[in-house]
Amino acid sequence: MEGETTVLPGFETGRLLLRPRTMADFDACLAMDRDPVVAQFIPGPWHEPGQHESFLRERIGASFGDGLGYWSIFPKEHPGRFLGWILLIPRDGIGPEVEIGWRLDRSARGNGFAAEAARPVADHAFRTLGLDCIIADIHAGNLASLRVAERIGMEYIGDGRGEHPCRRYAMRRRRGPESATRAMQKSETTAAPAGERRR
Ligand SMILES: CC(C)(COP(=O)(O)OP(=O)(O)OC[C@H]1O[C@@H](n2cnc3c(N)ncnc32)[C@H](O)[C@@H]1OP(=O)(O)O)[C@@H](O)C(=O)NCCC(=O)NCCS
Repeated sequence: MEGETTVLPGFETGRLLLRPRTMADFDACLAMDRDPVVAQFIPGPWHEPGQHESFLRERIGASFGDGLGYWSIFPKEHPGRFLGWILLIPRDGIGPEVEIGWRLDRSARGNGFAAEAARPVADHAFRTLGLDCIIADIHAGNLASLRVAERIGMEYIGDGRGEHPCRRYAMRRRRGPESATRAMQKSETTAAPAGERRR
């Protein structure tokens, strides 16, 4: 994962700005990960400060391959407010599968931001990088994350590998950006108002 630095594009959605994650986001990422609600379904060194900081520093400095990495999310209305991130990296940093993932600060949840931010990253995976498939291994109890995967057009393909029971979702290129777009449009026409969302 170490090596040359790759330049990642930024993205813009209706409400959000995504830019490559940098050390400027370090403190906000640490604080987000330390929230037990955020880390509920994610194994990691979140409560070992030294290990957590090393892990995060290494991840921010890593080169995952051309066009792959982490994007920090900011609201257009408050571009200095870190909301969370989207990743597109080799699974567990190793591969060979490429995974997409999402993590939001607790304060940002309940607004549909993860699906909105993941959509241009999925498009990037297929249209720019030409990947055939992206996956997401999601804890079976992580209902919000399972829903995000469905909402961007991913499909359940079976049990994933991992320390905990997880479901593997996949999106393939032939069904990729167009499918994600249709899924978002369909979902947004039927979505409940923000105040009625489950949290
Ligand atoms: C997963 C995560 C990014 C989703 O955040 P979000 O974009 O704010 O998601 P929302 O709260 O808008 O919920 C997304 C969907 O899940 C649904 N949902 C949320 N919580 C739910 C629950 N407990 N049960 C059932 N559905 C739920 C919402 O109603 C919404 O459905 P919709 O798209 O049909 O409206 C966020 O919960 C998070 O950061 N979790 C911690 C990190 C994490 O677990 N990341 C994923 C690792 S695989």
